[in-house]
Amino acid sequence: MADLTVNFAGIKSPNPFWLASGPPTNTYVQCAKAFDVGWGGVVWKTVGEPIINVFSRYGSIDLGIHRMIGLNNIELISDRPIADNLREITELKRNYPNNAVIVSLMVESKREAWHDIVKRTEDTGADGIELNFGCPHGMSERGMGAAVGQVPEYTCNIVGWVKEVSKIPVIVKLTPNVTDITFIARAAVEGGADALSLINTINSIVGVDLNTFTPLPDVGGKSSHGGYCGPAVKPIALNLLSATASDPAVKIPISGIGGISTWRDAAEFIALGSTTLQVCTAVMHYGFRIIDDLTDGLSTWMDESGIKSIEDLRGRALPKVTKWENLDLNYHIVASIDQSKCIKCELCWTACEDGAHQAIRRYPRVDGEPVVEIIEEACVGCNLCALVCPVQECISMQQVPNDHPPVTWKQYSAGDGALAPRSEHFHTATFGPRS
Ligand SMILES: Cc1cc2nc3c(=O)[nH]c(=O)nc-3n(C[C@H](O)[C@H](O)[C@H](O)COP(=O)(O)O)c2cc1C
Repeated sequence: MADLTVNFAGIKSPNPFWLASGPPTNTYVQCAKAFDVGWGGVVWKTVGEPIINVFSRYGSIDLGIHRMIGLNNIELISDRPIADNLREITELKRNYPNNAVIVSLMVESKREAWHDIVKRTEDTGADGIELNFGCPHGMSERGMGAAVGQVPEYTCNIVGWVKEVSKIPVIVKLTPNVTDITFIARAAVEGGADALSLINTINSIVGVDLNTFTPLPDVGGKSSHGGYCGPAVKPIALNLLSATASDPAVKIPISGIGGISTWRDAAEFIALGSTTLQVCTAVMHYGFRIIDDLTDGLSTWMDESGIKSIEDLRGRALPKVTKWENLDLNYHIVASIDQSKCIKCELCWTACEDGAHQAIRRYPRVDGEPVVEIIEEACVGCNLCALVCPVQECISMQQVPNDHPPVTWKQYSAGDGALAPRSEHFHTATFGPRS
């Protein structure tokens, strides 16, 4: 059986799945329930100066029948008193010594305030601290959250203050709302961070009520920008994870966050450099029970793939991320339609004709005959037809062999290496209308 245990900057966890700081980690009862059903760790809802939250906090994006593919919130940190949170955290760690208990913190940007909260947190017996430098709304207006995490000097300074007193590992949670996340990651490393977590939520306005013209979520006729998360943000999180994990100046462990809801998402995050994974929206949507699919799915797939441990999987995809200029210009593929699976919906034809490279021919409908056919000499292998096709494996992309060795843009523009011949049809729609 694959070994799912992790050691994250010294924090031990029975599996890599942690609840991210948020509504699911607001209380002892929730965290205990999560541990009972198999979650490896929790990052407690951010503790700080007591806050008053507004009523109406979330808005979401639906896509067809799929609800909440993206979630937006204007919730602030915990609105429970610090002492209550710390008391419950102490009890949680006492009752669940083998699970990872991390406390997310955010206080005003003063050295004494940080020293005080860090010491009080350590007294709970928690395994680690996560610094919330990412909250994109509400707290940043008070000089906290993203206001810290968007400025490398502030990040470095505050991590330094925390490290002056902390005896347990310090994780810095990064905001995606910056031009280049590696600047902030490096500042955290310089300040002495033991680990990073990313991403926090993305600045967003999720929609506007067209009857009232109030953006969502509506708080008595007004709204405010919030933080976006859930499945829709996964590609952004993966890109920022890959950039951070492959930065030679960032050699500390990373906890991946952002849109994780299946074991496949988890495997992809680990392959791009995460050691642990944090989940918030998927649990808000489906509950703690998704942990069964996450752990079973991941360990079964690891067994089938001969991957022995999380460490064995971590970063496997990173060497394959490169700059565009290093891609092989002589790698050619074209689309191929399995006519036995085609349902004749013509979506591929419409997409290619209007939205891509006019490389599909459409025939009048005759029973038993194909209605669409790839014009191979016009196909640039862009994948669009395969992406829009509603039938699994009906359209696949096939490699077109050629005698030319691989050549990158860099080599080609330096006169080093030749391009395989390309169809004259690539650059002009010379076929004209074909229906
Ligand atoms: C309603 C809500 C409240 C959140 N509160 C916090 C918080 O207090 N502290 C924090 O660091 N992150 C907070 N987050 C961000 C999550 O921890 C996580 O970074 C983000 O939601 C992305 O993960 P997901 O796509 O799995 O939801 C919150 C997210 C949501 C949806």
